Amino acid sequence: MQHLAPGKALDLGCGEGADAIWLATQGWLVTGVDISATAIARARREAQRQQASAATRFVTADLARWEPDDGPYDLMTASFLHSPVPLPRIAILQRAATTVRAGGHLVVLSHAALPPWVDAADHPAHSFPSPARQFVELNLNEHDWLVLSIQTHTRHATAPSGEAAELTDGVLLLQRR
Ligand SMILES: C[S@@+](CC[C@H](N)C(=O)[O-])C[C@H]1O[C@@H](n2cnc3c(N)ncnc32)[C@H](O)[C@@H]1O
Repeated sequence: MQHLAPGKALDLGCGEGADAIWLATQGWLVTGVDISATAIARARREAQRQQASAATRFVTADLARWEPDDGPYDLMTASFLHSPVPLPRIAILQRAATTVRAGGHLVVLSHAALPPWVDAADHPAHSFPSPARQFVELNLNEHDWLVLSIQTHTRHATAPSGEAAELTDGVLLLQRR
């Protein structure tokens, strides 16, 4: 995102705000939304600590119901927007995608598989579609969106047991025409 000219951004499921605050330090005006009031309170505190409060707005809301309210956006990000309870993730991304302006970008980072140390049977509501699958499910108009990247990649991690492990992430990068 470093090569993009700063504008207005929306971060879906922003957690404690690290990505939103980083964008703000790069000149972006950012709205971060998360269902966790604790995470949002921490995001606000961290933004204050990094003198990024003026460029960030953090909202506590359930994205299943929240309507983007200060668009259009030049950048929409959703990083690891997963939940152990049912989450209408694709509908959330589709709704937010409508608020990306022409020339703007949509970046979706996701876990493309459960961590190897987690038993899938313990997480029946968690789903980890590949970025290619997500792109199909998003069902975006191909005349409106340019696919810049659809990739999975692995990274090294340490399992809670201390053993080395690999995690698979998905990256979907689109630009609105
Ligand atoms: C794995 S964390 C990722 C946080 C951050 N984006 C990051 O990359 O570090 C997933 C986040 O999605 C949020 N989330 C899950 N369901 C949500 C919902 N229905 N509405 C808003 N946020 C939600 C969680 O509270 C959590 O902060």
